[in-house]
Amino acid sequence: MTEWWKNAVVYQIYPKSFKDSNGDGIGDLDGITEKLDYLNDLGVNVIWINPIYCSPMADNGYDISDYYRVNPIFGCNEDMERLLAEAGKRNIKILLDLVVNHCSDEHPWFQKAVADPDCEEAGYFYFKTTSDGKAPNNWRSNFGGSVWSQLPDQRWYYHTFSSKQPDLNWENPKLREKIYDMINWWLDKGVAGFRIDAITFIKKDLTFASRETGDGHLYPIENLTDYPGIDAFLSELKEKTFSRYDCMTVAEAPGVGEKTFRSYAGKDGFFSMIFDFNWENMEGETDKSDTAAVDRWKDKIFQSQKFTYKNGWSGVFLENHDQSRCANKFLEEKCRNYSSITALAVLYFFLYGTPFIYQGQEIGMRNALWKNIDEMDDLRAKGMYYEAIERNDDPDKVLKYFEELGRDNARTPMQWNDNANAGFTEGTPWMKVNENYPAINVAEQEQNPSSILSFYKKVTRLRRDPKYRETFAEGSFSPLYENIPALIAYTRKRDVQTITVIVNFKNECQAIPSVNGKCILNNNDSLLTKENRLLLQPYQAIVFAD
Ligand code: NOJ
Repeated sequence: MTEWWKNAVVYQIYPKSFKDSNGDGIGDLDGITEKLDYLNDLGVNVIWINPIYCSPMADNGYDISDYYRVNPIFGCNEDMERLLAEAGKRNIKILLDLVVNHCSDEHPWFQKAVADPDCEEAGYFYFKTTSDGKAPNNWRSNFGGSVWSQLPDQRWYYHTFSSKQPDLNWENPKLREKIYDMINWWLDKGVAGFRIDAITFIKKDLTFASRETGDGHLYPIENLTDYPGIDAFLSELKEKTFSRYDCMTVAEAPGVGEKTFRSYAGKDGFFSMIFDFNWENMEGETDKSDTAAVDRWKDKIFQSQKFTYKNGWSGVFLENHDQSRCANKFLEEKCRNYSSITALAVLYFFLYGTPFIYQGQEIGMRNALWKNIDEMDDLRAKGMYYEAIERNDDPDKVLKYFEELGRDNARTPMQWNDNANAGFTEGTPWMKVNENYPAINVAEQEQNPSSILSFYKKVTRLRRDPKYRETFAEGSFSPLYENIPALIAYTRKRDVQTITVIVNFKNECQAIPSVNGKCILNNNDSLLTKENRLLLQPYQAIVFAD
């Protein structure tokens, strides 16, 4: 029996920016409930919601101060119960975000630990004192600066991310039990599973020794992910929680390479799947429409697929709340249009893995135009910007980077219609709305059978169609016509069924050898053939089934 989550189509919601139901400028749970029919019609059957727990929101909810309570800016626990029930009526399951590498410095555990170095909760974190008053080592946090921050009583505490996010000490069995209780409490409430944040950071190198760096800068903490010994934590986590439910778990697992992939996302892995970050963007390519750049990207996708097919399962995606919009990441401005954006959808949706759609991707939302750093919200962008100033580096370089690849690009409010604030809120939106909303919005695309949204509805239905879904879930993956430049083509085969996906990822026509089967999806009105050749239009994407 294929596990249900292999046939899931997941929609990711960044709650702060999805739909505001009460006019305070911030999206909320009732806003999500209001849009369930929209999501149902889009054809998704699972929703992952970014953190909704009580939080000072230093990192938009990835800094949790109460794991059991919904943040009042998003509503209350009863709103969550109602959302679960209403989603259930539509056969939509809900995944929450599980953030257990760290909590907030405003969590009562941390507050107690700060007040009393000898209390039980002090053992839930990593504290150190040093005789020279300097930070305990040279490790660099993911958001810039040291992983250590100092308390007024001179103790240092450890944080992989910002100083508002102290790391939890997984070596402590009492802390681990508290985490398992909390996870099971939410699973008992009816959530269908979790997206698991930054999980490969939970095991530390307990020597905390400084590391050599060539350039004298701090040592990047991301090099210390998936640290030996983490398996014991992850198997216990699975055993005491997830394995007791028929749930879906998808881990954000930076640092997991081919060596340890199976233990994470193989048949009896710690999680149902991990996200495939191997081809998340085209960073470093100066011209994304250059066929060589496309082929380098294609190679990454294919390598990863061939490996995953043999070893486990992954979550496949083009966008998320930490990324820029896919129309910007993978397409030059002159090439951004209906064909190219729908081609991107076809390209990834039928790969081996569970497809995720990020809010707004289904209408082709774009990066925003940022005037300066003050318009941005992301603490990572701000931290790095001011760090560059302190180091006498050029802050404009940092700004350029974040304009293109920064996280705020995905966090501008969802564009529902062409009313004020794109119909996201009747108040003042917490973050600026992308100026292009009169042209790019749900209401307009819902009326238009040739819109990106209408095409996404076809894509989700095809991925879940009982006639084909077993082939998508279980079928082998093989690249096709690999040597044809800027053609991204592959087959998925199972028993007697072969599905062929053809994507001409360039802004020109090209002819390729023909393909067997009947056309079951096409982002172009035409299907031209000539003498055993298929004549593809610019960015034409077609799926055939045999
Ligand atoms: C990864 C999340 O995706 C990101 O948004 C967050 O800032 C960090 N983990 C820290 O929790």
